Amino acid sequence: MGIPFTLLLLISLLCLWVGASDGANVTYDHRSLIIDGQRKLLISASIHYPRSVPGMWRGLIQTAKEGGADAIESYVFWNGHEPTQGNYYFGGRYDLVKFVKTVQQAGMYMILRIGPFVAAEWFYGGIPIWLHYVPGTVFRTDNEPFKYHMQKFTMFIVNLMKKEKLFASQGGPIILAQIENEYGNYEFSYGSGAKPYATWAAKMAVSQNIGVPWIMCQQPDAPDPVINTCNSFYCDQFTPNSPSKPKFWTENWPGWFKTFGSRDPHRPAEDVAFAVARFFQKGGSLNNYYMYHGGTNFDRTNGGPFITTSYDYEAPIDEYGLPRLPKWSHLKELHQAIKLCEKPLLDGETTNLSLGPSLEADVYTDSSGACAAFLANIDDKKDKTVEFQNRTYALPAWSVSILPDCKNVVFNTAKIQSQSSIVEMVPEALLPSASTSENEGLKALKWEVFVEKPGIWGKADFVKNGLIEHINTTKYTTDYLWYTTSIFVDENEEFLKKGDQPTLLVESKGHALHAFVNRQLEGSASGNGLNFAFNFSSPISLKAGENEIALLSMTVGLQNAGAFYESWGAGLTSVKIKGLKAGILDLSASNWTYKIGLEGENLGIYKGQGFNSPKWVSTSDPPKDQPLTWYKAVVDPPSGDEPVGLDMLHMGKGLAWLNGESIGIYFPVKSSEHEDCVKECDYRGKFSPNKCSTGCGEPTQRWYHVPRSWFKPSGNVLVIFEEKGADPTKIKFSKRKTSSICSAVSEDYPSIDLESWNTNRDEDPKDRRAKAHLKCPEHTKIHGVNFASFGNPTGSCGSFSLGSCHDPTATSVVEKVCLNRNECNVELTPEHFSKDLCPGTTKKLTVEVVCR
Ligand code: GAL
Repeated sequence: MGIPFTLLLLISLLCLWVGASDGANVTYDHRSLIIDGQRKLLISASIHYPRSVPGMWRGLIQTAKEGGADAIESYVFWNGHEPTQGNYYFGGRYDLVKFVKTVQQAGMYMILRIGPFVAAEWFYGGIPIWLHYVPGTVFRTDNEPFKYHMQKFTMFIVNLMKKEKLFASQGGPIILAQIENEYGNYEFSYGSGAKPYATWAAKMAVSQNIGVPWIMCQQPDAPDPVINTCNSFYCDQFTPNSPSKPKFWTENWPGWFKTFGSRDPHRPAEDVAFAVARFFQKGGSLNNYYMYHGGTNFDRTNGGPFITTSYDYEAPIDEYGLPRLPKWSHLKELHQAIKLCEKPLLDGETTNLSLGPSLEADVYTDSSGACAAFLANIDDKKDKTVEFQNRTYALPAWSVSILPDCKNVVFNTAKIQSQSSIVEMVPEALLPSASTSENEGLKALKWEVFVEKPGIWGKADFVKNGLIEHINTTKYTTDYLWYTTSIFVDENEEFLKKGDQPTLLVESKGHALHAFVNRQLEGSASGNGLNFAFNFSSPISLKAGENEIALLSMTVGLQNAGAFYESWGAGLTSVKIKGLKAGILDLSASNWTYKIGLEGENLGIYKGQGFNSPKWVSTSDPPKDQPLTWYKAVVDPPSGDEPVGLDMLHMGKGLAWLNGESIGIYFPVKSSEHEDCVKECDYRGKFSPNKCSTGCGEPTQRWYHVPRSWFKPSGNVLVIFEEKGADPTKIKFSKRKTSSICSAVSEDYPSIDLESWNTNRDEDPKDRRAKAHLKCPEHTKIHGVNFASFGNPTGSCGSFSLGSCHDPTATSVVEKVCLNRNECNVELTPEHFSKDLCPGTTKKLTVEVVCR
């Protein structure tokens, strides 16, 4: 007997309903993203999966969640997933599905920026280099081959996410997807191909039916229903291109990236908080920190050119995975304060009031009478006092106060209540691994060495008249390209008799060069993050007869953005010798012999089988200042479990590996000591990357992250390729450790406990007191008090000093409350500190303690 039709219909309806209930309904209106009928106020954190290792993902995502993030945002890195055409890779750091599932397991949302062009200071902006060589291809314009491959990859990713049920519409975490990246900024350069391409990209994306909205960042003409979003240091003044779209901030830059040879930029936490508070004050509903954890450009994935291997970005979580204090915690408190306003913010009506010059209040009131207000002082110098709803509020310059009930200030962006910390890189010598037979019984570290022959090794790749373009030749399979030629010097040359040296003059489009004559290194030169091109000029030693000129041209990261960036070249464009009888000898059109890459790279001596290559020669006294040298040592992991960096301060430039894993390019080149650097940064006023730099005259990057998960308990193979010549015995590991923590809290700081605000909101403000909260890293305790003062101390964490007003009992109070605890709160109560001290001054408690 068959099942009656009505029953069948019922069953199928039920199935449909069950299916639908698995997934969320994600839409939007003018105010926010709407998930299952509810408007959402979202804090999102960019963490790029290949910039850390899978072993770190859970911890990073959890730290972002604890910091108040609801969502994780990442680009998808096409050239990591399809390194050669048609060969896909989703393992290790590129395990996208695992990453998105880790986000899901943490109970967070995911924003997937498929691009597939991403910029991101990532080599070639994320597009595979092979696509440049598909005939007729021009990137990011109305070009058939490009569109074909872009669509193919986008669909590949969409289908992969669908298969794994990762879109919110399927019950997964992905609530938004992005197509392209900041194309609007470049449309004018792409002429008539621009608009059709942007429209095509949007349509192609929408036709994927992913069940969640698409976004395009910095794309003012993004067609409906695609939401155009803002990327900048400030986005409060941004408005989307339609009154039916919400105001989203996809890239809020809490710091900035670095280039080799430049200074170290810093963006103060107060200013990041100010920008975020202003954004929500002015109707924003999704703020994403780009980056929240920047991480590391392992394995020559750095863009630029000249982007450092570190992509720390001065983000709320540092490169090594530690929360950066006070940025992480100040923003955490900001997020809590904003979330306390969520209901009236999202569902209320807004009124904007001017409270005086550069003073602005935005008040949100909902139908239940709930009221939240943001009071802003956008003057970048003057602190001000304002009247708001019959109360008086002090507003420091360039700050926003948040009042979740329109009465009480729970947070002010300029008042950092949360602790700061001093993080050190504690050195540890490379120790020979006890377990390797070669090292057994030896105290000193044994090295194995292989010196490359300067110039053509093995068989030449090709010979050609004239100088060729570098990147088209190497296709980024290696950084290195040899240009070699020879010249004949007549024994009657004047300079030989006089003992003079002619000069070698080289012009290069970038990025770096080592010049060898008769196998001797004569000099090096490089461009930098602003000027990739450079000129080289150096006296050289020539002898009578045949002389071999071998020029090693190098790339240092690959261009990652700019109109038609895929065709910007590198390599030598002119080679001349001055000081010969015949005047200037121009070798540019001579017969040049080329070799791509190094012999060691070709042998793979940094990985797998190559570790045991017969080329290695053992020594306990490795050569120093020897150019083009490979070094290998078998070492133990550093003690403890702190994150590890390789200290390359005394090295020149090159590449490093541990157990075959590529740490990346090292290049501890110093920035100029003549540039502007600051001791302390004034957070007030508009930020730009050059505003608050440090590190003038110091290496831009001294330490290179070696993830703990790459270490084995013993027998770790460390391989270094040094180009210029240096002393490898000076290489050290360094462990990243929080050595001390600080708190500086003033009597006039909001003294509200954000966690318990909702239950205690009616408490008498007189009963609330500011408090210094201190918490050491897990498994450590407050071991000693380095500094404590109640009064008007000055300075910052690590360099506090007493002021004219000081309560002498401060140290003993802090010791009593905090010693031998992991965490403590020191309240600014009259029981702890004298009320009558220095009448008329607003006093503050400043503490620095050691964690052990
Ligand atoms: C943006 C771009 C990002 C990143 C950022 C700077 O313009 O969209 O991918 O490059 O600049 O860090």
